[in-house]
Formats: sequence, C-alpha cells, structure tokens
Amino acid sequence: MTKAEIVSTGMYVPNNIVTNDNISKIVDTNDEWIKSRTGISERRISINENTSDLATKAALKALKTGNINPKDIDLIIVATCTPDSFIPSTACIVQKNIKATNAFCFDIDAACSGFIYGVNIARQFIENKSIKKALIIGSETLSKIVDWKDRNTCILFGDGAGAVILKEGESSGIISSYMESCGDKGDFLRCDTVPLYNPYSKCNTKEHINKVSMEGREIFKFAVKAIIKTIKKVLQCSNYNIDDIKYIVPHQANYRIIDYVSKKLNIDKNKFYVNLDKYGNTSSASIPIALDDMNSKNLINNNDKIILVGFGGGLTSGGLLIKWGSNILK
Ligand code: COA
Repeated sequence: MTKAEIVSTGMYVPNNIVTNDNISKIVDTNDEWIKSRTGISERRISINENTSDLATKAALKALKTGNINPKDIDLIIVATCTPDSFIPSTACIVQKNIKATNAFCFDIDAACSGFIYGVNIARQFIENKSIKKALIIGSETLSKIVDWKDRNTCILFGDGAGAVILKEGESSGIISSYMESCGDKGDFLRCDTVPLYNPYSKCNTKEHINKVSMEGREIFKFAVKAIIKTIKKVLQCSNYNIDDIKYIVPHQANYRIIDYVSKKLNIDKNKFYVNLDKYGNTSSASIPIALDDMNSKNLINNNDKIILVGFGGGLTSGGLLIKWGSNILK
C-alpha cells in the first residue's frame, strides 16, 4: 500500500534572540522563574518578517535539501493561527514566493496541533494517489498576537517556521495517526479576530480583545492527558509498542508537561526530543522545527520509528507514528 513519507525537512527562525533577561525588562519576571516553570531560556522574535516570510524560508530549505523542483509540488498546506491576512491564505503567498505554480494551496488552523493535522490531511491525497508531493509548513509569528503586558503568556511564545515535504513511499512513512478536538474547552486558550461590526450589528468594538489569553493550569492538565492518550492511540493502531519507538517529538510548550508525561507513562525522558529551551512555544511550527533540528543532527536513521504529538488551542490534539525512510535528506 502507498504510504506518505517525509523526504526532506526545513526550518527558519528570525535572527532576533530574546532571552529571559530581555523579557524581564518588559514584564515583572525573571530567568529563574521562566526556566524552572517552563524550561525556556530564549525565543526568537520577528522584527520585520511576517508568517509567510518565515514559511517561505523554511519551505525553500526543505526544497533545497530534498533537491525538489517547486513545480513538482502538488499541494501546499500552511498550518498557522497567525496568518499574514484573511485573504489570500499564507499558503498561496508561499506558492507565489517559491513559484510552486502547479500546487493547490490552503491554510488550516488547529493552533499548536496544526502541523499534525496538516500532514494527516496531505497524507490522504498521497495515499489515494491523487497527488505525488506535498509541502506542509507550520509557521507562526505569535509575537503579533501575544499580550506583551501579560507575564503569564508573553514569556512562553516564539516565532518560527518548520516544513516537510511528503511523497509516496512503500515501506516507510506514516503508519498510524490520531486526532481529537474538544471545542467545549476552547475558552482556555483564545485570541479573537476582528469583531462583527457592520451597519446592522450592535457590536461594542471597545470590548474587543485580539490578544492571547490563557488559563495556564487548565491547559497544562489538558496537555498531559492529550499527550498520554495520543501516544497510546497511535501505538494501538500500529504493530509497535513503546520500546520500538526511538523518539517522541512532542509539541514544544513546556518542559514540565513533557517531564510529567514521561513519568506517568514510565518512558525514559531521553526518548522525548526537546529544543524548547532555544525557541519557546512556536505553536504549529514547533514539531517541524524539532524534526529539522533532529534531522540535521543525524539523530534519526532509516527504519527508526518516531511519534509526533501535538496539542493546543481549540482545544485540539493529534499524533502520528512514522517509520523514517532511507530517502530522507538532511
Ligand atoms: N514570572 C514570575 N511570576 C509569574 C509569571 C512570570 N512570568 N507568571 C506567573 N507568575 C506568578 C503568578 O502571578 C502566580 O503568583 P501568585 O502565586 O502570587 O498569584 C505564581 O507565579 C504562580 O502562577 P501559576 O499560574 O499558578 O503558575 P504555574 O505553575 O501554573 O505556571 C504556566 C504557569 C503558564 C507556566 C503553566 O501553567 C503552564 O505551563 N501551563 C501550560 C501553558 C501552555 O503550555 N500553553 C500553550 C499550550 S499550546
């Protein structure tokens, strides 16, 4: 059976490094608090690049390392909750930038689970043989929706983009997947768009808040439950058990969440790939950034089994169990 296999990875983060000490000049916080509660040391904050700029650079890296002509890309999906604009989609802007003239393109928003959802959508087109190659990007400029006066949230997030190219594979590729959403818990992590304001509406625009707000403890509780359930589900839907898995690549939100899950499932902490200390929470970009990081460090080899697991706003969660292929380029 045709599988959808990752053949190359790419990432891009803005040059501007913002340390915890830098943030402590903006809000009442300190390096020790942020590190001990989250594991984050620094993050990248964009000065003049928007989500499509980051996405384009991550995509160009994935195309270059995979030696793939943009004209051979059939589908571009950008997972983002911080698009440049309502219209056009960020995916269409990337298409223009990289000259992928034969692709159809759209954005999805599943917040921090967006990359998992995007890969799972693209996978369907490849497995049913309606397309050959897809570019999936997670890209965010969360800095534009973060409330820089709120120390509960502004310390957590960073800007960045990660990309993968999927193509048909036979023996390696996506083995199993699981996705779940809990819309009834959506208010725990939210950011509004523009208010409904028109000649017929009674909207009070002054009440409008378009910055991130979060119930941190509720999200923490949701995250650990979602990661545990997702890992169990993708394993159940495969012929593998946890000992067969080389790495778990979780959404990079908080080291304490990962630590809690590793203890609860009795999984060696070293099995979880963590790079949130350098980038913070980059939402839909965090998993593909981690994958590119691992790929460039030669951490994943042919036939390795890895689990990717995302969770976040919506609330959403999802995972993929992947058998890494020999064709993957660094
Ligand atoms: N610096 C210093 N103190 C801070 C602070 C900061 N940046 N942010 C909050 N505090 C204070 C609080 O005001 C509170 O003080 P008080 O006891 O005097 O009221 C104290 O620290 C504890 O706050 P609390 O919110 O209970 O901390 P916590 O241990 O729950 O940690 C999070 C907060 C946000 C780090 C944690 O809840 C978390 O990681 N949640 C998940 C968030 C997440 O991953 N979101 C994205 C999902 S995709």
